[in-house]
Amino acid sequence: MEGDETILEVINITKKFGGLTALNNVSFDVRKGEILAVIGPNGAGKTTLVNIISGILRPTAGRVVYKGIDITNTRPNKRAKMGIARTFQVPIYIKNLRAIDSVAIPLTWKLKDLDLARKKAADLLERVGFDNPYKMGKDLTLTEEKRLEIARALALEPELLLLDEPAAGLRPNEIDELESLILSIAKQRNITIILIEHIIKFVMKICHRVIVLNFGNKIAEGSPEDVVANPDVITAYLGGII
Ligand SMILES: Nc1ncnc2c1ncn2[C@@H]1O[C@H](COP(=O)(O)OP(=O)(O)O)[C@@H](O)[C@H]1O
Ligand SMILES: [Mg+2]
Repeated sequence: MEGDETILEVINITKKFGGLTALNNVSFDVRKGEILAVIGPNGAGKTTLVNIISGILRPTAGRVVYKGIDITNTRPNKRAKMGIARTFQVPIYIKNLRAIDSVAIPLTWKLKDLDLARKKAADLLERVGFDNPYKMGKDLTLTEEKRLEIARALALEPELLLLDEPAAGLRPNEIDELESLILSIAKQRNITIILIEHIIKFVMKICHRVIVLNFGNKIAEGSPEDVVANPDVITAYLGGII
C-alpha cells in the first residue's frame, strides 16, 4: 500500500428507487493501493454502490470524488478513461465471439489496429490465467467467464478496479485461485481494488479493510477480524453465512 493517500471519497451517498432507499447516507474513503471489501447480504445496496462509483447511476444525494475531482456527474465512459473500471455481477460478453475478441474489440478504439489489440488481449488473458483464448463465449465455464470479465476490465488500464461479486457461483478451489489472481493484480499493477462480496469469508484473507452494508446503511467498517466480531454484523447476517 502507498500509505494513506486517498483515491476515492464516497460522501453521504443516498440512492432512492421510488420509495425504496437502496443506499442511505453512505460515506467512506478508499486508500490508494488497498483492497477494500464491501460486503452485505443480498439487496444491501452493493451493486447500486458500484453503479454509482462507475457512473451508470447518479445518486439521489451525495458526491463521489476521485483523485480530488468531483465525478458525481461525470459520464461512465469518461470515468473509465480517468481510470475507473468495473466488472459485472453477471458477466457481459458476446456469446458468439471468441474470448480473445471480447477483450480485443474494446481495445481497438485505442490501439486502432485489430492485430495489435489481439496481441494485447492474448497477453491480458494469459495474465489472468485464461488458458484458451480462442474458445467461443458460449462455451466458457463460469470461472473462465470471471477471468474474461477481469481481463476486459484490465484492458482499460484502470487505477481503481471495482469487482462485483467475482466469486459468486465458484467452487472453493476456484475461489482460492481467484483470490490469488486479485492479490497479484493489486500488487503487480498497483491497482486499488473495491471487492464486492456477500460472504465475508471469501475476502477475509486478501482485503485490508471491510465496509459492511445492510439495507443501504453502512453498519460497520474496519479490519476483517473486527468486522466478523461486530455484533451488528452478526445480527445482519443472522440465518446466513458471514
Ligand atoms: N434499478 C433499480 N430499480 C429499482 N430497485 C432497484 C434497482 N436496482 C436495485 N434496486 C433495489 O435496491 C436494493 C439494493 O439492490 P442491489 O444494489 O442490487 O443490492 P446487492 O448488490 O447488495 O444485492 C434492492 O432492494 C434492489 O431490489
Ligand atoms: Mg449485487
